[in-house]
Amino acid sequence: MSENAAPLSCPSCNARLKPAQLTDLRPGIYKGNCAQCLHPVRFRARARVAVAEAIAPPKPVDVVSFNVNGFDYAISNIDRSLSLGDWIANQPDLKGTKFMCGEGGCGACVVTIERGGAVFAANSCLFPLLLADGCSITTTEGLGSSLSGFHPIQERLAEHNGSQCGFCSPGMVMSMYSLLKTNPKPTRKEVEDRFDGNICRCTGYRSILDAMMTFATDARPLDIEDIDKVPSCGGACDGCSHVCLKKKLDIRQTLQSDGSLWYSPTSLQDCLLLLGKYKESGSVRLIAGDTGKGVIKFEDPSAVYISLTGIADLHVISCEKGLLTVGAAVTLSALIQTLTMYGEASDGKKLLKLADHVQKIANFPVRNMATWAGNLMLSYYHSDFPSDVMTIMQAAGVSLNIADSSGSKSYDVAGFLQLDMSDKVIVSMVIPYGDSNECFETYKIMSRHQNTHAFVNAGFRLALSTAGTTIAGKEISIVYGGIGPHTFEATSTQSYLVGKDLASPDTLKGALSCLSSEVKPIGQSGSGASVAYYKNLTLSLFYKFYLSVLGDGVSARVQSASGSIERPISSGVETYDSDKTKYPLTEPMTKMTATLQASGEAQYMNDMPAYPNELHGAFVLSTQANSTLVSIDTEAASKIPGVVKILSSTDVPSNGSNNWRPRDVREPHVPEPLLVPVGSTVEFSGQPFALVIAESQNAADAAARAVTAKYTSLGTPVLTIDDSIEAGMVFPDREKAAPLVWGSGDPDDAYKTSKHQISGEISCGPQYHFYMETQRCLAVPTEDGLDVVSSTQYIDHCQRAVAQMLGITENRVNVSVKRLGGGYGGKLHNAQHIACGAALAASVVKRPVRVVMDIDSNMQMVGGRASYLVKYQIGCDDNGVLNAIIMTAYADTGFSENCQYLFAFDKFFDNAYYCPHWKVYSKACKTHTASNTACRAPGALAATFIMESMMEHVAKTLNRSPEVVRFANLYKKGQVTPYGQPLPYCSLSSLWLQLMTACDFVSRLKAVETFNEANRWKKRGLSVVPLKYGIGWKGNPFHCLISIYAGDGSVSIASGSVEMGQGLNTKVAQVAAYSLGIDDLSLIKVKAASSFIGPNNKATGGSVATELVCAAVLNACDTLNARIKPVRDQMKAAATWPDIVNECYTSGVDLAAKGWVEMTSKNPFNYCSYGVTCTEVELDILTGEHEIVRSDVLYDCGESINPEIDVGQAQGAFVMGIGYWHTERFVRDSTTGQLLTKNTWNYTPPSSKDIPCDFRITFLKDAPNPSGILGSKAVGEPPMCMSCSSLFAVKHAIESARAEIGKDVYFALNGPATVDAVQLAGLLDPSQFSL
Ligand SMILES: Cc1cc2nc3c(=O)[nH]c(=O)nc-3n(C[C@H](O)[C@H](O)[C@H](O)COP(=O)(O)OP(=O)(O)OC[C@H]3O[C@@H](n4cnc5c(N)ncnc54)[C@H](O)[C@@H]3O)c2cc1C
Ligand code: FES
Ligand code: FES
Repeated sequence: MSENAAPLSCPSCNARLKPAQLTDLRPGIYKGNCAQCLHPVRFRARARVAVAEAIAPPKPVDVVSFNVNGFDYAISNIDRSLSLGDWIANQPDLKGTKFMCGEGGCGACVVTIERGGAVFAANSCLFPLLLADGCSITTTEGLGSSLSGFHPIQERLAEHNGSQCGFCSPGMVMSMYSLLKTNPKPTRKEVEDRFDGNICRCTGYRSILDAMMTFATDARPLDIEDIDKVPSCGGACDGCSHVCLKKKLDIRQTLQSDGSLWYSPTSLQDCLLLLGKYKESGSVRLIAGDTGKGVIKFEDPSAVYISLTGIADLHVISCEKGLLTVGAAVTLSALIQTLTMYGEASDGKKLLKLADHVQKIANFPVRNMATWAGNLMLSYYHSDFPSDVMTIMQAAGVSLNIADSSGSKSYDVAGFLQLDMSDKVIVSMVIPYGDSNECFETYKIMSRHQNTHAFVNAGFRLALSTAGTTIAGKEISIVYGGIGPHTFEATSTQSYLVGKDLASPDTLKGALSCLSSEVKPIGQSGSGASVAYYKNLTLSLFYKFYLSVLGDGVSARVQSASGSIERPISSGVETYDSDKTKYPLTEPMTKMTATLQASGEAQYMNDMPAYPNELHGAFVLSTQANSTLVSIDTEAASKIPGVVKILSSTDVPSNGSNNWRPRDVREPHVPEPLLVPVGSTVEFSGQPFALVIAESQNAADAAARAVTAKYTSLGTPVLTIDDSIEAGMVFPDREKAAPLVWGSGDPDDAYKTSKHQISGEISCGPQYHFYMETQRCLAVPTEDGLDVVSSTQYIDHCQRAVAQMLGITENRVNVSVKRLGGGYGGKLHNAQHIACGAALAASVVKRPVRVVMDIDSNMQMVGGRASYLVKYQIGCDDNGVLNAIIMTAYADTGFSENCQYLFAFDKFFDNAYYCPHWKVYSKACKTHTASNTACRAPGALAATFIMESMMEHVAKTLNRSPEVVRFANLYKKGQVTPYGQPLPYCSLSSLWLQLMTACDFVSRLKAVETFNEANRWKKRGLSVVPLKYGIGWKGNPFHCLISIYAGDGSVSIASGSVEMGQGLNTKVAQVAAYSLGIDDLSLIKVKAASSFIGPNNKATGGSVATELVCAAVLNACDTLNARIKPVRDQMKAAATWPDIVNECYTSGVDLAAKGWVEMTSKNPFNYCSYGVTCTEVELDILTGEHEIVRSDVLYDCGESINPEIDVGQAQGAFVMGIGYWHTERFVRDSTTGQLLTKNTWNYTPPSSKDIPCDFRITFLKDAPNPSGILGSKAVGEPPMCMSCSSLFAVKHAIESARAEIGKDVYFALNGPATVDAVQLAGLLDPSQFSL
């Protein structure tokens, strides 16, 4: 406790202190908590001090002043909709902060904000610029750079290989920095918890968490001084600390205003006065954290905004006689601290439970801004918003103080929902606590472990009679959220339970029956979960609570159901070989640009400086699949300030072509319109028909939303494979070209004569690539034609597509790509659509045009991974040894059959198993969805899963162990696959045995069985999946150019292939250094890929580009070495590389060489990779939630050129697979075909807590690949295919639950096995709920 005289500041966070509810301060002693950090404070005021005056309404804010990285800014006339992120994105020197979702869901844009002495991480994309007044903001540039020296966080992230494509890295760095600023010595748990709001699609999080864990107290914590200390840049400024305090500037800017008024009152009275003043206008909006716009997007603007942040009365926190009062402007983060502090101080279990639940709301940076009252109000205005705050606070029995001009009144949550809130403000809530007989629990069931909304949330409260199992009085509350409008209170069940003995099985039965009849969930649009699941959850959550109330009074076997699955702090082990004699080959070195990525200096397409006359583009998307576009109405859109032009298909030059698919005889495609013409067919909802060009991206996006169109339906859209088959929409071309894909032996006869005949079908769904850098392109008219900076994986096709669309020669289109923020196949073809849009716009307006897709448009317009459905027949013997397989595979290609990658399936269907008789048909099904495309391990991922499902089917039918059946069928060296691939090297069996030993399979299986016997509602499962993955190089030409500079021996390498996180450039440099004999790798720089250097270069994808560019580099190095050798031979052995180069130059040796490869093979593949993975999961049968306890991946990576990079690829691929099998799904509107899962709210790739808790990756030792480049094997895709082991582990856990009810027979568990699918597969039957 501190004792001060006014003016006062908090001894902990330094924030100014004043009594919250007073307008002036009379002499006396005051006690309370700091409104910012909750530190307990006590002070004496000796004289009367004015704190705030009750005045007439304040003036609207017109200037906002803040500081970024030590520089002062003052900005006037700010458009209310501008976020801090919008402003940062437009600052040429602040390009380090990245943006993807714009809705608080990805964490790319996290910055550190200091306001009133409090420091917190915030999503700059949500943080209103108008709220930045008085803030000090730190971005990644403020921490460190290549010039000033990197910050330890940036360094450690890079050192640990935590930055692959790098697009998430600055956000990761800033999240960690924010943690260390407030908590310099965090525990490992605190570190792990902090990354709930940062998505990384590349790394699989393991390396990021490992890097950040080094700052934990039990690792290598940073000295407090080091958090803000970076080395001097040695420049002219006075010491280059991250905040150059002595270098402050006063930069004044005026931004476009939208004409609205923004008030920042400092007292509740002022706020109410303002509300009264503008009430009649009907267009007033209160602003607290302003995060609501991340959930409810694109609301109509208001005329007047009133910020609540500065109102002290709304920050009040007080506690008296078991009543905790919390002000409405208290953020969710501060609420957690408050609940924890008072809960711990008073043994207030209820408060601690509430704190736990609030911790599950949104993510860390969002919780730092979001207020609990704002959350309630979102629910008030949007009854379908599954508010956690509403549910848990209603269950907790809170009352709300709500004020208007007539004063303040108290309401319960139900009463609040009946109010007209248009002139009211929520002031505070009062939480009763401290009743030791009270039992209180809350639950939140989500699609992934964190950072997403609930399917169902629930809160339960009852008070037990003293020493009894009956309810005291009528104190009971059963509240659900997410199942219908607002919350549902199960009043009949509540009444039923009053007076009953809870320990009686009859009471439970009666309550469940009562609950079952009164709860009628309607579910949530876009969730994808069935009503049956919602219903099950309401019953099973109640059962969990019931068990928790009875505690030890019920058997241990069922009692374990009451809690959630505990997830310990995660860990990982990576094991690989490295041969020092070959360094830098095989050296586990960090990506060369990793620190630049972490510091934000690495340039992506949108970091290109803006041209002075630059414009921005946004596609206008259709909203009705399978229709005719009748007309387009652009009137409203054209009036939006900043709109320059709205293009349609008629703007495509007459000598060009309204088609973004390039013509390529080696890779044929059917045309797809750049913009659907009026009168033509709209195939899918999301297909663009216009493109807005505007002065800013925000204006272009807003105008694109304002364009409307009329459609005539051509029928109900066909959206699934089943419906496509039913509607006869299988593409005939493929049927004609390949009626039978592969056949070997005599499968019909072999099937008939097999001892066992097994048939079934299995399917797996689509997947969005979720690259953190959405698709984007900048097209700049030049005297030449066009310079195109695209985020494409396929430079050659980008160039060709633009040229053909505009009707100009290819040499007039110069395409370059520095790096991508992730691709995963999604930018292979579809990037050309965006590039053609930008190019068309630039050529029409003759100005540079930049198109940056927002996440909603990107997800709707761009196709993803294809779904598959396979119908199969298997013939086998008693041991499950395969004799015949006949399968028909249906792939959902979307509306066109453009992507041949979909049929990679055709060469992966056998996975790791030999079968003498095969027949495989493969069919392309049309649906009214975007053309599907390549997505990491296209075809192969589905094929592996389908074959493994078939092995499960065989094992279950024969009542044999799936591991025994799998092992019995593994390919052996010398066998040939049905598509003619000989296997002269095949390590499957030895890999299998090695992994089984390493992961201690036998004893762990026993432990799993013991666990399952001991637990009725929690089950564990263990699964092992092998992999054979063919790598084909054929038909993939690759180029490179190496230039050696005579002055110092430095080397530049450029190619036509794109760095997108896979470490291509680093490996290229390693190979060049090794081959040319350069010791110092820093002498080598790999330049942006371009169409000039790499003409007719194949796409970067399919895991092979890195290998083949390395081969091209070797080819160029051979040429150079042949020229250099005679000079080198004449020099002393000690001659350095620069000396040799200089001598070559003097002797007239050409020091530049081009390399080119186009590999051939008489077989489908050049070689095969192998691997085996074992995964263990724990499953909550009641909810379907599951935890990946451990994964052991053993992979044959040959002799890896860079094992650190390759391990990162394997981890990232595996975790992307986990998302595919467990958390990611598409949901569409059945009438319009619109994608409902089109943002981070509804689409959930894995977060940092969805990865295996114990994640071990081993690369096979001593296994150089004789057919590979320098002994290596590809790694970007194959390990992903083994990720289905987690789904099968879940399946085994479900089988154990089914065995409890005598139903352990084979069932198909389709992908994705989301929590709802898993729970339903467990055949949950509430009549089985027992004590
Ligand atoms: C990425 C993300 C994930 C999320 N996940 C979850 C989740 O898992 N569970 C969940 O429940 N929520 C979730 N949310 C919602 C989040 O909790 C709310 O956005 C937040 O609490 C709103 O608070 P705010 O202060 O930002 O409100 P604002 O956005 O400022 O305001 C929201 C509404 O409340 C009104 N308002 C605010 N304060 C008051 C007041 N004192 N009196 C009267 N009206 C007021 C405003 O006028 C406005 O209409 C998520 C949000 C995001 C962005
Ligand atoms: S861009 Fe801000 S959270 Fe995604
Ligand atoms: S490194 Fe994290 S998204 Fe690419």
